[in-house]
Amino acid sequence: MIILKTERDLEAMRPACAVAAAVLSEVAAFIRPGVSLKQVDEFAADQIRKRGSKSAFLGYRKYPCHICISVNDQVVHGLAGPKELKFGDIVSLDVGVIHNGFIGDNARTVAVGGCSLDAQRLMDVTEQSLYEGIAQAVPGNRVVDISRAVQTYVENHGFSVVREFVGHGVGRTMHEEPQVPNFVEGKSSPRLRPGMTIAIEPMVNAGQCGVKILNDGWTVVTQDGSLSAHFEHTVLITESEPEILTCLEKTPLRLKA
Ligand code: MF3
Ligand code: CO
Repeated sequence: MIILKTERDLEAMRPACAVAAAVLSEVAAFIRPGVSLKQVDEFAADQIRKRGSKSAFLGYRKYPCHICISVNDQVVHGLAGPKELKFGDIVSLDVGVIHNGFIGDNARTVAVGGCSLDAQRLMDVTEQSLYEGIAQAVPGNRVVDISRAVQTYVENHGFSVVREFVGHGVGRTMHEEPQVPNFVEGKSSPRLRPGMTIAIEPMVNAGQCGVKILNDGWTVVTQDGSLSAHFEHTVLITESEPEILTCLEKTPLRLKA
């Protein structure tokens, strides 16, 4: 069942998403060579706490960290630890918070100090694929229109989308219906309606699309060792343009590159 949000729900959910966006922005600015993943997670925990919110991830299916920190060939769900970030790494930061009884979920990949042109291109294509998907998040379209836009953009640029993990409806719980894949499946696909709130989150590999899970039970890495990037926004379907709820400024949709 897809839960449509009322204007009252949105009054609570908009601030939750604003907190998620603010925390992600602060954490991204904290990233620099020499900081450990543990320090990043602790910084994120402080940022979440000082806004009166809670991590949506900590304890979710026993997930042990406040945010997900995934470095280089790690796709998603990377764990904090003593490892230090070094110049040239790329790091995917995924921040979900609970605030006012609602969840805001967003992610972004950033370079540590700087990175190779190949890595920068992967991040740029992944981010733009998210906006290509968001542009399809209008009533009358179906979820598959988002999926197709993401996949087409990514594959036209020579990269691949991960199949095993997908975007999702989000609201009072982190994972609601519908699933929002980043690729076209043969299945029937729900129609988008005003009041739906969905997390669109392309996970894009520089090489092949295959992934595997490390022995820690969480960390997802590319099978071929290639770099991976991840961008995510929580988006509201309205009567007209999509509203990006996890956006700090009320910026309009990014124009096509
Ligand atoms: N953004 C991710 C998701 O939508 C974060 C989940 S991490 C977990 O599923 F630890 F909470 F599982
Ligand atoms: Co998500």
